[in-house]
Amino acid sequence: MDKFLETVNYIKQQVNNLPKIAIILGSGLGTLADDIENQTVIPYKDIPNFPISTVKGHKGELIFGTLNNVPIVAMNGRFHYYEGYDLKEVTYPIRVFKLLGIETLILTNAAGGINLNYQKGDLMIIEDQLSFFAESVLRGPNLDEFGERFIDMSNVYTKEYIEILKPIVTKITGKCNIGVYAYMKGPTYETPAEIRALRTLGADAVGMSTVPEAVVAKHSGIKCIGITCITNMAAGILNEILTHEDVKETALKVEKNFKSVIKELVVKLNEQESSHS
Ligand code: HPA
Repeated sequence: MDKFLETVNYIKQQVNNLPKIAIILGSGLGTLADDIENQTVIPYKDIPNFPISTVKGHKGELIFGTLNNVPIVAMNGRFHYYEGYDLKEVTYPIRVFKLLGIETLILTNAAGGINLNYQKGDLMIIEDQLSFFAESVLRGPNLDEFGERFIDMSNVYTKEYIEILKPIVTKITGKCNIGVYAYMKGPTYETPAEIRALRTLGADAVGMSTVPEAVVAKHSGIKCIGITCITNMAAGILNEILTHEDVKETALKVEKNFKSVIKELVVKLNEQESSHS
Protein backbone atom coordinates (compact mmCIF):
# COMPACT_ATOMS: atom_id res chain seq x y z
CA MET A 1 0.00 0.00 0.00
CA ASP A 2 2.85 2.39 0.76
CA LYS A 3 4.12 1.89 -2.77
CA PHE A 4 0.75 2.77 -4.24
CA LEU A 5 0.50 5.88 -2.09
CA GLU A 6 3.97 7.02 -3.13
CA THR A 7 2.94 6.64 -6.78
CA VAL A 8 -0.34 8.45 -6.26
CA ASN A 9 1.25 11.33 -4.33
CA TYR A 10 3.74 11.86 -7.12
CA ILE A 11 1.00 11.98 -9.76
CA LYS A 12 -1.15 14.33 -7.67
CA GLN A 13 1.74 16.77 -7.50
CA GLN A 14 1.85 16.94 -11.30
CA VAL A 15 -1.86 17.19 -12.08
CA ASN A 16 -4.38 19.84 -11.03
CA ASN A 17 -7.72 18.42 -12.13
CA LEU A 18 -8.06 14.72 -11.50
CA PRO A 19 -10.42 12.99 -13.97
CA LYS A 20 -13.05 10.33 -13.30
CA ILE A 21 -12.50 8.48 -16.60
CA ALA A 22 -9.39 6.51 -17.60
CA ILE A 23 -8.74 5.09 -21.07
CA ILE A 24 -6.27 2.37 -21.93
CA LEU A 25 -5.13 2.91 -25.49
CA GLY A 26 -4.72 -0.46 -27.17
CA SER A 27 -3.29 -1.23 -30.58
CA GLY A 28 -4.96 0.96 -33.15
CA LEU A 29 -5.74 3.75 -30.78
CA GLY A 30 -2.33 5.21 -29.99
CA THR A 31 -2.93 8.38 -31.97
CA LEU A 32 -5.93 9.26 -29.84
CA ALA A 33 -3.19 10.65 -27.61
CA ASP A 34 -2.67 13.46 -30.14
CA ASP A 35 -6.29 14.57 -29.75
CA ILE A 36 -6.09 15.04 -26.00
CA GLU A 37 -6.08 18.73 -25.11
CA ASN A 38 -4.53 20.53 -22.16
CA GLN A 39 -2.06 17.70 -21.76
CA THR A 40 0.05 16.89 -18.76
CA VAL A 41 2.28 14.01 -19.86
CA ILE A 42 4.02 11.87 -17.27
CA PRO A 43 6.44 9.23 -18.62
CA TYR A 44 6.13 5.91 -16.79
CA LYS A 45 9.84 5.99 -16.08
CA ASP A 46 9.38 9.11 -13.94
CA ILE A 47 6.58 7.67 -11.81
CA PRO A 48 7.77 6.00 -8.58
CA ASN A 49 7.05 2.23 -8.53
CA PHE A 50 5.38 2.24 -11.96
CA PRO A 51 6.32 -0.62 -14.28
CA ILE A 52 8.49 0.51 -17.16
CA SER A 53 7.83 -0.31 -20.82
CA THR A 54 10.60 -2.54 -22.04
CA VAL A 55 9.45 -2.99 -25.60
CA LYS A 56 11.25 -0.87 -28.15
CA GLY A 57 9.00 1.62 -29.88
CA HIS A 58 6.25 1.21 -27.30
CA LYS A 59 5.11 4.43 -25.76
CA GLY A 60 4.97 4.58 -22.02
CA GLU A 61 3.22 7.58 -20.58
CA LEU A 62 0.18 8.73 -18.70
CA ILE A 63 -1.57 11.61 -20.40
CA PHE A 64 -3.90 13.75 -18.32
CA GLY A 65 -6.05 16.22 -20.23
CA THR A 66 -9.43 16.62 -21.90
CA LEU A 67 -11.18 14.89 -24.80
CA ASN A 68 -14.14 16.86 -26.13
CA ASN A 69 -13.84 18.92 -22.94
CA VAL A 70 -14.19 15.86 -20.71
CA PRO A 71 -11.33 15.36 -18.24
CA ILE A 72 -9.63 11.98 -18.79
CA VAL A 73 -6.38 10.18 -18.22
CA ALA A 74 -5.04 7.94 -20.97
CA MET A 75 -2.50 5.16 -20.63
CA ASN A 76 -0.47 5.43 -23.79
CA GLY A 77 1.21 2.04 -23.73
CA ARG A 78 -0.01 -0.86 -21.61
CA PHE A 79 1.78 -3.77 -20.02
CA HIS A 80 1.23 -7.31 -21.30
CA TYR A 81 1.89 -10.57 -19.52
CA TYR A 82 3.67 -11.94 -22.60
CA GLU A 83 6.30 -9.23 -22.30
CA GLY A 84 7.41 -10.81 -19.04
CA TYR A 85 5.64 -8.61 -16.50
CA ASP A 86 3.86 -10.39 -13.73
CA LEU A 87 0.14 -9.76 -13.41
CA LYS A 88 0.60 -7.42 -10.44
CA GLU A 89 2.72 -5.19 -12.66
CA VAL A 90 0.29 -5.44 -15.58
CA THR A 91 -2.50 -4.16 -13.35
CA TYR A 92 -0.56 -1.76 -11.11
CA PRO A 93 -1.85 1.30 -13.01
CA ILE A 94 -5.48 0.30 -12.45
CA ARG A 95 -5.08 0.39 -8.68
CA VAL A 96 -3.30 3.70 -8.98
CA PHE A 97 -6.30 4.94 -10.98
CA LYS A 98 -8.63 3.78 -8.21
CA LEU A 99 -6.68 5.76 -5.63
CA LEU A 100 -6.72 8.80 -7.92
CA GLY A 101 -10.52 8.69 -7.96
CA ILE A 102 -11.15 7.05 -11.33
CA GLU A 103 -14.70 5.66 -11.52
CA THR A 104 -14.86 4.48 -15.13
CA LEU A 105 -12.29 2.58 -17.17
CA ILE A 106 -12.46 2.39 -20.96
CA LEU A 107 -10.49 -0.63 -22.15
CA THR A 108 -9.52 -0.88 -25.80
CA ASN A 109 -7.64 -3.59 -27.63
CA ALA A 110 -7.00 -5.44 -30.86
CA ALA A 111 -8.19 -9.02 -31.20
CA GLY A 112 -8.81 -11.84 -33.60
CA GLY A 113 -12.39 -12.49 -34.67
CA ILE A 114 -13.77 -15.93 -33.77
CA ASN A 115 -17.43 -15.26 -34.52
CA LEU A 116 -17.88 -16.11 -38.20
CA ASN A 117 -20.22 -13.17 -38.71
CA TYR A 118 -17.42 -10.74 -37.88
CA GLN A 119 -15.14 -9.13 -40.42
CA LYS A 120 -11.66 -7.78 -40.25
CA GLY A 121 -11.92 -4.10 -39.32
CA ASP A 122 -15.13 -4.44 -37.26
CA LEU A 123 -15.44 -3.05 -33.78
CA MET A 124 -16.87 -5.27 -31.04
CA ILE A 125 -18.29 -4.09 -27.73
CA ILE A 126 -17.13 -6.45 -25.00
CA GLU A 127 -20.09 -7.95 -23.21
CA ASP A 128 -18.23 -10.49 -21.09
CA GLN A 129 -14.93 -12.32 -20.91
CA LEU A 130 -13.37 -15.77 -20.71
CA SER A 131 -10.05 -16.40 -19.00
CA PHE A 132 -9.92 -20.15 -18.39
CA PHE A 133 -6.32 -20.49 -19.42
CA ALA A 134 -4.70 -17.89 -17.23
CA GLU A 135 -4.24 -17.60 -13.51
CA SER A 136 -6.24 -14.94 -11.74
CA VAL A 137 -4.55 -11.62 -11.25
CA LEU A 138 -6.14 -11.57 -7.78
CA ARG A 139 -4.29 -14.72 -6.66
CA GLY A 140 -2.37 -14.18 -3.42
CA PRO A 141 -3.13 -12.20 -0.29
CA ASN A 142 -6.16 -10.02 -0.86
CA LEU A 143 -5.63 -6.26 -0.80
CA ASP A 144 -8.60 -5.44 1.40
CA GLU A 145 -8.10 -1.72 0.82
CA PHE A 146 -9.27 -2.26 -2.76
CA GLY A 147 -11.93 -4.94 -2.52
CA GLU A 148 -13.13 -8.22 -1.10
CA ARG A 149 -11.57 -11.66 -1.46
CA PHE A 150 -14.37 -13.25 -3.43
CA ILE A 151 -16.04 -11.05 -5.96
CA ASP A 152 -19.06 -11.36 -8.17
CA MET A 153 -18.17 -11.34 -11.86
CA SER A 154 -21.62 -11.11 -13.41
CA ASN A 155 -21.25 -7.49 -14.50
CA VAL A 156 -17.60 -6.89 -15.32
CA TYR A 157 -18.67 -4.69 -18.23
CA THR A 158 -21.34 -2.23 -17.13
CA LYS A 159 -24.62 -2.93 -18.93
CA GLU A 160 -25.75 0.67 -18.74
CA TYR A 161 -22.58 1.74 -20.54
CA ILE A 162 -22.97 -0.93 -23.20
CA GLU A 163 -26.40 0.55 -23.98
CA ILE A 164 -24.80 3.98 -24.29
CA LEU A 165 -22.09 2.64 -26.59
CA LYS A 166 -24.29 0.61 -28.97
CA PRO A 167 -25.83 3.54 -30.88
CA ILE A 168 -22.47 5.30 -31.08
CA VAL A 169 -20.75 2.31 -32.69
CA THR A 170 -23.70 1.74 -35.02
CA LYS A 171 -23.76 5.36 -36.11
CA ILE A 172 -20.03 5.55 -36.78
CA THR A 173 -19.35 2.12 -38.29
CA GLY A 174 -22.76 1.11 -39.63
CA LYS A 175 -22.64 -2.11 -37.60
CA CYS A 176 -22.51 -3.13 -33.95
CA ASN A 177 -21.08 -6.40 -32.70
CA ILE A 178 -21.43 -7.28 -29.05
CA GLY A 179 -19.51 -10.29 -27.88
CA VAL A 180 -17.35 -12.28 -25.52
CA TYR A 181 -13.61 -11.60 -25.40
CA ALA A 182 -11.41 -14.60 -24.64
CA TYR A 183 -8.05 -13.92 -23.03
CA MET A 184 -5.02 -15.92 -24.10
CA LYS A 185 -1.61 -15.25 -22.63
CA GLY A 186 0.30 -15.10 -25.92
CA PRO A 187 2.72 -14.19 -27.38
CA THR A 188 1.91 -16.87 -29.94
CA TYR A 189 -1.31 -16.41 -31.82
CA GLU A 190 -3.63 -19.34 -31.18
CA THR A 191 -3.70 -22.58 -33.10
CA PRO A 192 -6.74 -23.31 -35.29
CA ALA A 193 -7.69 -26.04 -32.80
CA GLU A 194 -7.61 -23.54 -29.95
CA ILE A 195 -9.82 -21.20 -31.93
CA ARG A 196 -12.36 -23.95 -32.60
CA ALA A 197 -12.31 -24.80 -28.90
CA LEU A 198 -12.77 -21.16 -27.91
CA ARG A 199 -15.72 -20.85 -30.30
CA THR A 200 -17.32 -23.89 -28.71
CA LEU A 201 -16.78 -22.27 -25.32
CA GLY A 202 -18.64 -19.16 -26.40
CA ALA A 203 -15.92 -16.74 -27.43
CA ASP A 204 -16.44 -14.17 -30.19
CA ALA A 205 -12.95 -12.65 -30.18
CA VAL A 206 -9.53 -13.48 -28.77
CA GLY A 207 -6.72 -11.29 -27.55
CA MET A 208 -3.79 -10.98 -25.18
CA SER A 209 -4.76 -8.08 -22.92
CA THR A 210 -7.67 -6.40 -21.12
CA VAL A 211 -8.85 -9.26 -18.87
CA PRO A 212 -6.28 -8.74 -16.08
CA GLU A 213 -7.06 -5.01 -16.03
CA ALA A 214 -10.82 -5.60 -16.06
CA VAL A 215 -10.60 -8.06 -13.15
CA VAL A 216 -8.62 -5.63 -11.00
CA ALA A 217 -10.97 -2.80 -11.94
CA LYS A 218 -13.99 -4.91 -10.98
CA HIS A 219 -12.31 -5.91 -7.70
CA SER A 220 -11.99 -2.28 -6.67
CA GLY A 221 -15.40 -1.15 -7.93
CA ILE A 222 -14.34 0.70 -11.08
CA LYS A 223 -16.94 0.43 -13.86
CA CYS A 224 -15.56 -0.99 -17.11
CA ILE A 225 -16.44 -0.62 -20.73
CA GLY A 226 -14.47 -2.50 -23.36
CA ILE A 227 -14.11 -2.08 -27.12
CA THR A 228 -12.21 -4.39 -29.41
CA CYS A 229 -10.92 -3.77 -32.89
CA ILE A 230 -11.15 -7.03 -34.84
CA THR A 231 -7.83 -6.72 -36.65
CA ASN A 232 -7.92 -10.18 -38.23
CA MET A 233 -10.00 -13.30 -38.31
CA ALA A 234 -8.51 -15.74 -35.79
CA ALA A 235 -6.23 -18.61 -36.81
CA GLY A 236 -7.57 -21.20 -39.20
CA ILE A 237 -10.66 -19.28 -40.30
CA LEU A 238 -9.45 -17.70 -43.53
CA ASN A 239 -6.51 -19.87 -44.49
CA GLU A 240 -4.24 -16.91 -43.91
CA ILE A 241 -0.99 -16.65 -42.01
CA LEU A 242 -1.35 -14.21 -39.10
CA THR A 243 1.28 -11.53 -38.88
CA HIS A 244 1.72 -8.63 -36.52
CA GLU A 245 2.16 -6.39 -39.60
CA ASP A 246 -1.32 -7.25 -40.87
CA VAL A 247 -2.77 -6.72 -37.41
CA LYS A 248 -1.16 -3.28 -37.23
CA GLU A 249 -2.29 -2.42 -40.76
CA THR A 250 -5.94 -3.15 -40.01
CA ALA A 251 -5.72 -1.32 -36.69
CA LEU A 252 -4.44 1.73 -38.55
CA LYS A 253 -7.32 1.61 -41.03
CA VAL A 254 -9.90 1.47 -38.26
CA GLU A 255 -8.24 4.09 -36.12
CA LYS A 256 -10.31 7.04 -37.33
CA ASN A 257 -13.62 5.37 -36.52
CA PHE A 258 -12.29 3.94 -33.29
CA LYS A 259 -11.21 7.41 -32.15
CA SER A 260 -14.57 8.94 -33.05
CA VAL A 261 -16.32 6.25 -31.01
CA ILE A 262 -14.20 6.93 -27.93
CA LYS A 263 -14.63 10.68 -28.20
CA GLU A 264 -18.42 10.41 -28.34
CA LEU A 265 -18.40 7.82 -25.60
CA VAL A 266 -16.56 10.01 -23.08
CA VAL A 267 -19.06 12.81 -23.63
CA LYS A 268 -22.01 10.48 -23.04
CA LEU A 269 -20.41 8.82 -20.02
CA ASN A 270 -19.70 12.22 -18.55
CA GLU A 271 -23.32 13.33 -19.07
CA GLN A 272 -24.55 10.09 -17.54
CA GLU A 273 -22.37 10.36 -14.45
CA SER A 274 -23.20 14.05 -13.95
CA SER A 275 -26.90 13.25 -14.04
CA HIS A 276 -26.35 10.59 -11.34
CA SER A 277 -24.46 12.84 -8.99
N1 HPA B 1 -5.13 -13.58 -31.37
C1 HPA B 1 -4.69 -13.03 -30.21
N2 HPA B 1 -4.43 -11.75 -30.08
C2 HPA B 1 -4.64 -10.96 -31.14
C3 HPA B 1 -5.09 -11.47 -32.37
C4 HPA B 1 -5.35 -12.86 -32.48
O1 HPA B 1 -5.76 -13.39 -33.54
N3 HPA B 1 -5.20 -10.41 -33.22
C5 HPA B 1 -4.81 -9.30 -32.51
N4 HPA B 1 -4.48 -9.64 -31.26
